[in-house]
Amino acid sequence: MGNKGTDGGPLTHGVPIASLAHDVLNDPEATVREVALAGWVLHEDRVLQHAGVDPLSSPGNRRKAKMTMETTTDEIAPDIFRMSTFVPEIGPTGFTFNQFLIRADEPLLFHTGPRAMYPSINAAVAKLIPVEALRWITFGHIESDECGSMNQWLEAAPQAAVAHGEVGCMVSLNDLADRPPRVLQNKEVLDLGDKRVRHLDTPHVPHCWEARLLFEETTRTLLCGDLFTHLGKGPALISNDVVGPAEEAESLFKATCLTPTTGSTIRSLANLEPAVLGLMHGSSFNGDCAQALNDLANMYDEMLAAAGSPT
Ligand SMILES: [Fe+2]
Ligand SMILES: [Fe+2]
Repeated sequence: MGNKGTDGGPLTHGVPIASLAHDVLNDPEATVREVALAGWVLHEDRVLQHAGVDPLSSPGNRRKAKMTMETTTDEIAPDIFRMSTFVPEIGPTGFTFNQFLIRADEPLLFHTGPRAMYPSINAAVAKLIPVEALRWITFGHIESDECGSMNQWLEAAPQAAVAHGEVGCMVSLNDLADRPPRVLQNKEVLDLGDKRVRHLDTPHVPHCWEARLLFEETTRTLLCGDLFTHLGKGPALISNDVVGPAEEAESLFKATCLTPTTGSTIRSLANLEPAVLGLMHGSSFNGDCAQALNDLANMYDEMLAAAGSPT
């Protein structure tokens, strides 16, 4: 017997999660952050209910969940495609989950999306390449939106391998991935044929000690994961302010690790002089990327200093 509430929904400390989330939304004293996270919970609940899926009956049932929303595709640099799914329930203006496909001799996916989004993202990839031709499955760090459907992709693409840094493979992926991952050293390049991606270890940036990012050298595209996360459903590619919206979202989610090396790690990315930033949550950016990264680094340095000051 699973851990279920009287309405059949999942429990947390004896109370159905969806019920708690509704309580938060009806609480006039709830913080904006609490409301945003409640929206995330209710979105998941709605997706599973729509699919007639009991999320607790088996892990496989979650895979059968169908999304009620659309994944859109845009080319943000030559043969680099952003696939984006908008979730209106999260935060005051909704939230996007983006994956990136590099179309090359050895096609590479950056972010798998969570398991419930797999059917929609798979259909989007299939319009660009045969899914079974996928060679590399990559992501920034180990969370469900980054890599929840990793094994579904491994099953769909028999030649594909997960590629990640040493820490991620050692701590998690040797166990979580259905096939052994390819271990990448810091700054190692994967030659995809007509594209080249450099693996960059960025521990705790934005979060998790196995965190890493990818830099595609021929287009100077930095796939920067959760960095610059912002809310809303903007255009696929923008060139105006990306730091201001990121500061707003950071104050809402508080998702980034504030450490003494957060700023310097982000500044080292500015030294790559990217032409495009591919964001996991929000619009991609093709303005002055080095300036934006330096401004973001300064923002986190200031947040760290403020957090360490007596109040
Ligand atoms: Fe994350
Ligand atoms: Fe994310």
